[in-house]
Amino acid sequence: MAESSFEGRTCLVTGASSGVGEQTALGLARLGARVVIVCRSRERGERSRAAIVRASGNPAVELLLADLSSQAAIRQLAKEILAGVPAIHVLVNNAAVVNLRRATTIDGLEATFAVNHLAYFLLTNLLRERIVASAPARIVNVASDGHKFGRLDFDDLQLERRYGWWRAYTASKLANVLFTVELARRLDGSRVTANCLHPGAVASRLGHNNGRFAKVATALLKPFFLSSAQGAETSIWAASSPEVEGLSGRYFEKRKEGPTSAAARDETTAKRLWQESCRLTGLADDSL
Ligand SMILES: NC(=O)c1ccc[n+]([C@@H]2O[C@H](COP(=O)([O-])OP(=O)(O)OC[C@H]3O[C@@H](n4cnc5c(N)ncnc54)[C@H](OP(=O)(O)O)[C@@H]3O)[C@@H](O)[C@H]2O)c1
Repeated sequence: MAESSFEGRTCLVTGASSGVGEQTALGLARLGARVVIVCRSRERGERSRAAIVRASGNPAVELLLADLSSQAAIRQLAKEILAGVPAIHVLVNNAAVVNLRRATTIDGLEATFAVNHLAYFLLTNLLRERIVASAPARIVNVASDGHKFGRLDFDDLQLERRYGWWRAYTASKLANVLFTVELARRLDGSRVTANCLHPGAVASRLGHNNGRFAKVATALLKPFFLSSAQGAETSIWAASSPEVEGLSGRYFEKRKEGPTSAAARDETTAKRLWQESCRLTGLADDSL
């Protein structure tokens, strides 16, 4: 079934300066939505905004700037959104990083966990009331099949003892799935759904912040990987298709429900992650 027309609806997409996020924003703009893209670089964001307007023919594409590794920046972003966006029908949490070496954010947190999970968590919770007031609405969290390799060690969530890029990335993507499950549970009855997905293996800029080696590796793998437009298909579908209406707490790949790991279905871990995330972001645990 085709995606529904999105005229009169507002969609927010984070990490839309490249890859899957940019193509997701384009797809939603093509459906006629007002699209707000969140990027950290003005230059890259403006370039992306102009490209989306050009390719979609939809002028209602706006850029907001925020470095999602900073909780102060996320709070400022949420303020701007609440002031300028009266209704939010779709929030796509998509921005993510891969860091070969352990890095910390301005808040002193391990950067992969902070950007890939805590930013999803904090932004969603800060916008939650507005999203619920805009219902029916959808929250879409871009996770990864890599979550199946992920493990959350609550004694070392910041990976101070043992850091590895794959360990950090897969743990953050497991966190995306657990967050979605717990969010869906808390949103039950609100007509706001929360789902997550795997976009496929996509030849994007993911990891390009790690120097030449990562760029060369992506270039070599490109023929075997999906394009960013193909990678965005499940995000656009999850955000807009009538087929997904009413479904919540699900994990999708290739536009259908897919299997998750046993760790991703553990409700106790999902609740514990929620509590830890509240503590790390300074949110009260009754925030949903
Ligand atoms: N590529 C794959 O094979 C694959 C597979 C499974 C899942 N995924 C998931 O797909 C999603 C999109 O990734 P992608 O492959 O499209 O990668 P990408 O091309 O690197 O896009 C990532 C986006 O996130 C933004 N971003 C990173 N750190 C940020 C920060 N601190 N503040 C604000 N924005 C930030 C980037 O902005 P800049 O342009 O400024 O860097 C970029 O717009 C991610 O959630 C990723 O985990 C990707």
